[in-house]
Amino acid sequence: MINTKVYIPKDLDKSSVKDDIRNTLLSGKNVIFPTETVYGIGAYALSESGVKSIYAVKGRPSDNPLIMHFSNLKDILNYVEIDQGYVKDLMQAFWPGPLTLVLRKKPIVPEFITGGLDTVGVRIPGHEIARKVIDIAGVPICAPSANISGKPSATLFEHVLEDFNGKVDIIIDGGKSEVGLESTVVDVTKEVPVILRPGMITKAMIKAITKEVIMNSEVIGEETPKAPGMKYKHYAPSGKLIIVEGEEKKVIDYINKQTKEFEIEGLKVGVISTNKIADQFMAQFVYQVGEELEEEVIASNLFAALRKMDNMKIDIIYTLSFSKGNFEEAIMNRLLKAANNNIIRL
Ligand code: TXA
Ligand code: MG
Repeated sequence: MINTKVYIPKDLDKSSVKDDIRNTLLSGKNVIFPTETVYGIGAYALSESGVKSIYAVKGRPSDNPLIMHFSNLKDILNYVEIDQGYVKDLMQAFWPGPLTLVLRKKPIVPEFITGGLDTVGVRIPGHEIARKVIDIAGVPICAPSANISGKPSATLFEHVLEDFNGKVDIIIDGGKSEVGLESTVVDVTKEVPVILRPGMITKAMIKAITKEVIMNSEVIGEETPKAPGMKYKHYAPSGKLIIVEGEEKKVIDYINKQTKEFEIEGLKVGVISTNKIADQFMAQFVYQVGEELEEEVIASNLFAALRKMDNMKIDIIYTLSFSKGNFEEAIMNRLLKAANNNIIRL
C-alpha cells in the first residue's frame, strides 16, 4: 500500500510540489492527473519501471499501447515521423485538444509503450493542468485512462480514488473532466486518415481539414488498422447494461414493464435517461445525463452514470440510446461496448 498524496491545481505553483511531481515521475513512479477528456495515469515515457507499473496497477494487457502526452509540438517532433502532408493541418486545427494522432515512431520511442508496434499515439491535451504536469516533468508522459482495465474511464476525482487510492504516489484533483469521453484516435500514417476510436473530434470535423477520412469500422479487408485497445472488453459496469432504442413512448413502456418483472425477482433496476423524461420511469434509480439535444453534456456524464450504477449495486441498467446529432459515433461506440452490443430496437 502506497501513501497516496493528493494535490489540487493551485499546489502546482509551489516549488516543493513541483519537485515532488518531477521526482516521482523521473524515478519511475506514477502520477494521476486530469485531462479534458478523462483522468490519465502518467509515467515518464522512457522509464520502463514507470510504464510497467502503469500496466500492473491498471491490470492492462501489455499489447495495448499507450499514448504519449506532450505540452508542445516541438518536443513531439523528436519522437515521431510525419509522413503525410495533412498531419500538420490536423495538429494545428485540434491541438491542444481531444485528438490523438498515431504516427510512425522514431527509434527513441521504446517498444514497452507501443506494445511492439512501429507506431505511437501522441497528443497535446487541452487541459492546462495536464500540460503543466508535463512541463514540470520536462519529459513526455505516457498516460492511459486512469481506471482499472475494463471499468468505465474516470471523469471525476472520486472515481480515481475508488480505483487507485493507495496504489499510486500522487493524484491531482482537477474536478470533473469537461469532455468526458476519451480522445479521438486517428491513424495518420497513410494517405487517407483512419479513425480508430471515435471521440468528440468527429469524422466531419476531420474531414473538413483532410477532405477524406475513414472510420475503422468501414474498412473492409485484412489490412484494417486497429487500436489494439478496442478489442478488449471496455467501460463495462458490473450490472447488466441494456440499450433500448425506438420511439420515446414505446421505450418508456418497455423499460417500465421490464423493470416491474425484474423487481419482482428481487433485482435492482436503474435507468440512464435524458432529463425531460426521467420522471416517467418506475425504476428505483434514474440517472439524468442531460437534455436530449445537449449531446456534449450527455457525453460528459456517461461514464459517471455507469459508475454510479455500480456504486448503487444496480443489477440491470437500462439506457436510452443517444443516437442523434454530431457526437453519436463517440457516445454510441462507448455505450455499445459497455453493453457488450446488447441493444433492443423497438
Ligand atoms: O483521452 C485520452 O486519450 C486519454 C487521456 C488520458 O489522454 N487516454 C486514453 O488512453 O484513453 P488509453 O490508453 O485508455 O486508450 C488509448 C487507445 C487504446 O485503444 C489504444 O489501443 C490506442 O489508443 N492506441 C494507442 N497507441 C496506438 C497505436 N500506436 N496504434 C493504434 N492504436 C493505438
Ligand atoms: Mg482506456
